[in-house]
Amino acid sequence: MNKMAIVLAAGQGKRMKSKLYKVLHPVGGKPMVGHVVDTLHHIEVSRTLVVVGFGSEAVQNYLGDKVEYVLQEQQLGTGHAVLQAKPLFEKEEGVTIVICGDTPLIQHHTLQEMIKLHEQTGAAATIMTAEMVQPAGYGRIIRNAEGSVSRIVEHKDCTPEEASVKEINTGTYCFDNQLLFEALGHVTNDNTQNEYYLTDVIRILAGQRKGIQAYLLEDGSESIGVNDRPALAEAEQLLKRRINKQHMINGVTLIDPENTYIEADVQIGMDTVILPGTILRGSTLIGEGCTLGPNTEITDSTVKDEVTIKQSVVQEAFVDSFASVGPFAYLRPGAKLGQHVKVGDFVEIKNADLGEGSKVSHLSYIGDATVGKNVNFGCGAITVNYDGFNKNLTEIDDDAFVGSNVNLIAPVKIGKGAYVVAGSTITQPVEAGDLAIARERQVNKPGYADKIRSRMKARKINKSE
Ligand code: UD1
Ligand code: CA
Repeated sequence: MNKMAIVLAAGQGKRMKSKLYKVLHPVGGKPMVGHVVDTLHHIEVSRTLVVVGFGSEAVQNYLGDKVEYVLQEQQLGTGHAVLQAKPLFEKEEGVTIVICGDTPLIQHHTLQEMIKLHEQTGAAATIMTAEMVQPAGYGRIIRNAEGSVSRIVEHKDCTPEEASVKEINTGTYCFDNQLLFEALGHVTNDNTQNEYYLTDVIRILAGQRKGIQAYLLEDGSESIGVNDRPALAEAEQLLKRRINKQHMINGVTLIDPENTYIEADVQIGMDTVILPGTILRGSTLIGEGCTLGPNTEITDSTVKDEVTIKQSVVQEAFVDSFASVGPFAYLRPGAKLGQHVKVGDFVEIKNADLGEGSKVSHLSYIGDATVGKNVNFGCGAITVNYDGFNKNLTEIDDDAFVGSNVNLIAPVKIGKGAYVVAGSTITQPVEAGDLAIARERQVNKPGYADKIRSRMKARKINKSE
């Protein structure tokens, strides 16, 4: 059957107390509405319409042309929000899924199960419901003597008896598209909040003796609606556990899952071990057999197999197999490490390509550089890439040796196998196989150490007198 979806995302989200539009608040690194749209994408709906409100350009900027939009100029309630879809959807036949932009944890297989129930029973409407220990704030599911759903009562409109009902409306539904818009025409705003409630459609359809089904979630936490920051933190926690569990099932070892933060779109190969305090963000891809952490943050990067990264920050970087990074390294955008590369402590790499087997073991900065294979950087060697105006390039060929504390003033080129002596400041190209030395010659003055000490001492005494 044809499936369409309407995502409600026009509400102000006042309870978030935020300048950021509610549905754009991230959970697991992804805006809530992004989770909802991705879930719908999974179940292959033919159209997704997002109802946006005043000042919602940000939502449209974020979702782009993946979905259609309709503007709800005034937020007069969820029923009014769905009604805005009428001109676009009224001719459609099939099932319309209505889902809130602030329920980021609903999973695609759950939606699929709800749709299955809806189609098998031929219901006019199917509500996703959950049993909540603390149902406060949610609409309650009211069933008749036979046990079928007759209406939903909003928390604020509940009698004490209705308030004691534990089964709640998650805010996700399937409707027969035609019947939905027909019933919406009868919804009024005669309630405590003076809003047009979508939930009234259920009472209207039940009154017309149309079939209403409830799809009761086994795990109610999946339907958490994020209205405020405590709920945002709860959603974050729940998603973290779900994501971490899935990685563990896939063969990833998490030493302390409660203290490991992996965003929704990150992929990790099997036998990778993740130590506590590790944060993997964005579109990061991690290969097999890696050891990451402790206390490592990797964002939008690709890490191949058997890589070790300790106590480091990695951003928009590429790390090939068998490389080792850290402790305390910083790989910035454009860092590209070949196989078996070693980047050690207090090393920063930016926009630089390091060929297979090259080593930068301690206290270095390599920026805007192309480095060949098996190049060795001594402690404290740096590329001087910035002259205050331009970023200049350093090129180093295979097997070159750059001694400790060398400054390579870019643009400069070091040839294959060249040897740059420690402490040199290099401003001219060094040809392949050459040795470059660019520092003052050493002068030794025999016996001068004692002489200079007594001279200094005398000077100090004079001063203090
Ligand atoms: C709604 C349901 C409630 C359910 C709960 C589940 C109604 C009347 N109530 O209550 O039964 O238990 O969700 O989380 O439907 N929105 C608009 N336009 C509006 C109003 C809201 O687009 O005019 C959007 C919001 O952005 C939000 C969604 O609809 O994404 C739900 O609105 P919200 O105000 O959060 O409803 P709840 O009070 O949570
Ligand atoms: Ca809500």
